[in-house]
Amino acid sequence: MDNTVTVTDNRTEKQYTFPVTHDTIRAMDLRKIKVNPDDFGMMSYDPAFMNTASCQSKITFIDGDKGILRYRGYDIADLAEHCTFPQVAYLVIHGELPTPEQEAEWLAAIRIHMGIFENIKKFMEGFRYDAHPMGMLVSTIAALSTFYPDAKNVRSHENQMHSIHRIIGKIPIIAAYGYRHSKGLDYIAPEQNLGYAENFMHMMWDRSPLQHLKHPVLARALDVLFILHIDHEQNCSTNAMRAVGSSEADPFLSTAAAAAALAGPLHGGANEAVLKMLDEIGSKENIPAFIKGVKEGKEKLMGFGHRVYKNYDPRARMIKKTAESVFEITGRNKKIDLAMELERIALSDDYFISRKLYPNVDFYSGIIYEAMGLEPKMFTVLFAIPRAVGWLAQWQELINDPEQKIARPRQVYIGYDQRPLPDSYTYGARTEEALVSTH
Ligand code: CMC
Repeated sequence: MDNTVTVTDNRTEKQYTFPVTHDTIRAMDLRKIKVNPDDFGMMSYDPAFMNTASCQSKITFIDGDKGILRYRGYDIADLAEHCTFPQVAYLVIHGELPTPEQEAEWLAAIRIHMGIFENIKKFMEGFRYDAHPMGMLVSTIAALSTFYPDAKNVRSHENQMHSIHRIIGKIPIIAAYGYRHSKGLDYIAPEQNLGYAENFMHMMWDRSPLQHLKHPVLARALDVLFILHIDHEQNCSTNAMRAVGSSEADPFLSTAAAAAALAGPLHGGANEAVLKMLDEIGSKENIPAFIKGVKEGKEKLMGFGHRVYKNYDPRARMIKKTAESVFEITGRNKKIDLAMELERIALSDDYFISRKLYPNVDFYSGIIYEAMGLEPKMFTVLFAIPRAVGWLAQWQELINDPEQKIARPRQVYIGYDQRPLPDSYTYGARTEEALVSTH
């Protein structure tokens, strides 16, 4: 087979042949298409990157039509069932599952960085009691950049790994302290002998009325939820990580930018929005009226639909399964029944069927988090903790990819052609009186 594509420009009747690699053509090849030799050349126009690959990656594979998700070639269901979060984090960062020795070294490297400076605690104490935990997380990760100037040496492998260990070690501490701060509770330091998810629960709930939630079954459920959220290839926040990282900003600043992107309700903020939606629906008999409103475009069915999945999100399936083990300890969160009925009605409705809208990762996760005693505004933080691993793996891949450069999309300018300034804008022509009257 000839792995090329030939394009005819009907404006000039010229033909151009471009190589095809991995089912893509190079957008820069399009620039060869010109009407005159001094033309800029053709570009592709792709708002929201609906059909543009911005990198080559070895980290995550998704087949959205078949509902497949793999990290480094391993199926997400196998990883969630048989591995721990730190093992999968190692896999995503390093490319292979760790040997026992590598795992011990990895855990030690993360543990050594599980601590924060007193100044960071003071910084966080400056937030109001009702500050949104995502705002606290984004700002504090950015603030960490000021403590680790060595992170700016982004080309050094050693410094890259230092930053990766630091961010993975510190993000649960910041998340847990943000939670405690909002409750007026004091700081709880991590324990050296606890697992990653277990430690996070310890830091949130020790010496609080929710102490009883430090339960091994819940810790394992959280570990599984963390595994499911580690990476999802070029989503909005990962794209932010790569875009900011491409300017060689340090990984703390890039991670803060990625977390900011995650906060929006169309991305990681959807889990919080799902709970709000379920609260508003209230009971099963209100579902048909709600669905009618969605179909009329009045609102969205939050936790449904995905840019890539046009099938059941495999993560949603596993989260639904994990919910049962959580409810055995916490008691059943009634919202799961409402959510399942909502899913059943939506999946039998032509509006959702024809658009291939299925539950995504956020549809059921909030229900488990709520059963675990967490409030909706913490949900996106719980997404950010494991996703930091994916962001960092993607950042490292970007930094070490010789083909990558600073991210800088093109635009199609559709504004005014050149025009003269109005006379009133001649420098110094405006009187003070005129300026005052404009305010
Ligand atoms: N409820 C109702 N209609 C929807 C929904 C929804 N949740 N999602 C998509 N549609 C409709 C949309 O109105 C459009 O209809 P039409 O063709 O008549 O104009 C069609 O489905 C295609 O949707 P789209 O907006 O072109 O799809 P997109 O790829 O741009 O958006 C999405 C993907 C995830 C932003 C969107 O499905 C959505 O807003 N979902 C709700 C928010 C949500 O659950 N986000 C979490 C995503 S998964 C985790 C993550 O990324 O963090």
